[in-house]
Amino acid sequence: MNSDAAITGESANMIVLIGLMGSGKTTVGRALAKRLNLVFRDSDEAVEKTAKTSVREIFENQGEDIFRKLESEALVDLCDTKSSIVLAVAGGAIISQSNRDLLQKNAQCIVWLDAPTPTLISRTGRGKHRPLLDGDPVGSLNKMRLDREPLYQQLATHRLVTQSLAIDEVVERIMSLCSLETGTAPLTESSENVATR
Ligand code: S3P
Repeated sequence: MNSDAAITGESANMIVLIGLMGSGKTTVGRALAKRLNLVFRDSDEAVEKTAKTSVREIFENQGEDIFRKLESEALVDLCDTKSSIVLAVAGGAIISQSNRDLLQKNAQCIVWLDAPTPTLISRTGRGKHRPLLDGDPVGSLNKMRLDREPLYQQLATHRLVTQSLAIDEVVERIMSLCSLETGTAPLTESSENVATR
């Protein structure tokens, strides 16, 4: 875990959430941003906005390599923002060394959200932007875990297991782990469990 990460980039208040599909990055990120009164951004949404089409369409019509290129470009744009943001980084973005370098350079705190594979599976059923899980979701997620865990471990300043935690509990723990101060906006999703878009 990279708890001594030098956090010296220009957007010094970027809070980054990383982790496998279904780990709760988007849901938690939205709630955390609301709590901190910060803007929330999501790398998949940024890609979709630029490409003017869905993640699934990009995978199907242009292939994963093009998606990864768009994803890297989106991260450069997102990290270039001069305002403080909470950023949910799609699960596979950290495969790229340059993406990892960029996040490390710009983030104040990088939290790796994790949960056991059955929990991820139950949550990912709700997201249609995950073509890599179409065939064998359990096998694919297990393989991704194996391949990516060392990278999440290396990049994260903190790891948080979200299983069975309500959204507001996850938010509280991130606030505490990252020594964040509460913003003015109230948290509204207090009784829901972590789920994904
Ligand atoms: C992917 C994760 C997805 C999306 C795409 C590929 C991955 O985002 O970018 O389906 O390789 O892990 P989420 O992590 O937000 O589900």
